[in-house]
Amino acid sequence: MNILVLNGPNLNLLGTREPEIYGHHTLDDIEASCIAHGKTLGVTVSCAQSNVEGVLVDRLHAARGTMDGVVLNAGAYTHTSIALRDAISATQLPVVELHLSNTHAREAFRHVSMIAPVCIGVIQGFGAAGYPLALTALHGHLSGARG
Ligand code: DQA
Repeated sequence: MNILVLNGPNLNLLGTREPEIYGHHTLDDIEASCIAHGKTLGVTVSCAQSNVEGVLVDRLHAARGTMDGVVLNAGAYTHTSIALRDAISATQLPVVELHLSNTHAREAFRHVSMIAPVCIGVIQGFGAAGYPLALTALHGHLSGARG
């Protein structure tokens, strides 16, 4: 089983970016924890990050046929990007929407997700611990789908 962990804009700055909201873990820490957790599940985890909306769309397209599912922290594009939503629909891959922070406890503009309706589920508010949770959830979904 192959899962892509895809992170969007500004998440390359984790560790120094508003740590009171996003915590002290760097993106490298998070990616390493995803790969390690994947091993415990028997999942091969690939990781990617981009600050560019179109690159994230391209990554989702490339995941079709090579990945079984995606954990996606789309950052601020979550709240604005119909292109990402369409890419998720187009690839028909199971995608878990993820956020470090609880977006519903923050500004009103973060309460809307363009992508949630086309994702299989959402994990948010648990900081870096959300990534292994999302991998476990997606692995369970995929294992169930395979019977
Ligand atoms: C975020 C939440 C978004 O609202 C924000 O724009 C981010 C990070 C999170 O992980 O909590 O960049 O996706």
